[in-house]
Amino acid sequence: MSIQKPKGTQDLLPGEIEKWQYLENKARDLCQRFNYKEIRSPIFEHTELFSRGVGETTDIVEKEMYTFLDKGNRSISLRPEGTAGVVRAYVENKLYGEPDVSKLYYIGPMFRYEQPQAGRYRQFHQFGVEAFGSVDPSIDAEVIALGYAFYKEIGLKNVSVEINSVGTPEIRSTFRVKLQEFFAPVKDNLCKDCKSRYERNPLRILDCKIDQKYGEGAPNILDYLDEACTTHFQAVQNDLTGMGIPYIINPRLVRGLDYYTHTAFEYKAAGIGSIDTIGGGGRYNGLVEQIGGNDQPGVGLGLGLERILLVLQAQGVEIPRPKPLDVYLIGLGEAAEKEVTQLLYQLRLHGVNAEKDYLGRKMKAQMKSADRFQAKYVAILGDDELSRGEITLKTMATGEQVTVTLVNFPLHVKTL
Ligand code: HAM
Repeated sequence: MSIQKPKGTQDLLPGEIEKWQYLENKARDLCQRFNYKEIRSPIFEHTELFSRGVGETTDIVEKEMYTFLDKGNRSISLRPEGTAGVVRAYVENKLYGEPDVSKLYYIGPMFRYEQPQAGRYRQFHQFGVEAFGSVDPSIDAEVIALGYAFYKEIGLKNVSVEINSVGTPEIRSTFRVKLQEFFAPVKDNLCKDCKSRYERNPLRILDCKIDQKYGEGAPNILDYLDEACTTHFQAVQNDLTGMGIPYIINPRLVRGLDYYTHTAFEYKAAGIGSIDTIGGGGRYNGLVEQIGGNDQPGVGLGLGLERILLVLQAQGVEIPRPKPLDVYLIGLGEAAEKEVTQLLYQLRLHGVNAEKDYLGRKMKAQMKSADRFQAKYVAILGDDELSRGEITLKTMATGEQVTVTLVNFPLHVKTL
């Protein structure tokens, strides 16, 4: 029996991969404009990083990590998200010693052992940014704006931005008790996950889709914020308004990771069945310290690339195709075929996208191959032409043919 890919993973094949490259190029271009620099941290880390960073009581750490012992008996986990690893790298490489705010971005695979469905995979990809070293609300707004601009620039429509303030850990522990009091009478009616969330993390009950009805009239975290939190949250809103970014305040927005303080946000769009969150992020002021660094604040986001592609498809947004082949070279006869190998290399060195046949096929089959590659030109070299030092160049759209000398050929094609 042939071996199949693990459940919840995808092969990204030619035809599809061009869309990924398009998104990745857009992300890199955007980050350059926002002055974020790329960071590549390991795909696996010590498990402790995630239990300490993401949070012991989160679904991610409790249920969804790919954890194993390596041959040295160390507990290792595939990264379920990007922030913890970037924070570790920031601390380990002492980036906090740099004079400016560290603004970093990454694009890469993340792993969560979840029940796969459309938009939910076990290996998925995020484009994420993290900015360290500033408590200025303008950087929260910058990060939210960056995500919004990304969606806009790739042509995604109807993205809504939901924001909330989750305060400080102290505020949350008061709020937690209030929530437990509120949910106590309906505790036994809650869904299986929320029953255990009631003790571990009652805030998560607020954004449970199943138990929404029990959340009616629940205490509102915004009523529990202190002055500093309220001022920060208001400043983020003012900046977003100034930038013309529409947002909705959703006091029930609680992210699935424990590290957030102050600003938390999500981007939503319809088009992937029951899933509507296409990205999210927030501020995490205690995380760097929790991971062993000094007390440096941070804020960031993670956007799921699979979900973006699904919504783009649902909205019928066309992704620009990469440049097709410029020239398909055909050699007729042994000597001409040999020459074609050399010419092909020369063309490629001159920046021309070029291809030839490698299967010893007849001229007709080679012409079909050129069509499949959407070659703009086909260049045909027979032994006769070779002896005259010439080659025939045919424009596929018009059928027009010209003869070009072999010495001039690469430059001629380059300048077409
Ligand atoms: P997150 O909300 O867990 O946040 O994930 C961010 C995005 O990754 C989600 O909105 C979704 O688009 C995508 N995603 C998550 N799980 C899956 C999955 N199983 N299959 C497909 N896509 C998925 C974080 O990961 C934080 N690290 C974001 C952040 C960065 N916060 C601050 N800095």
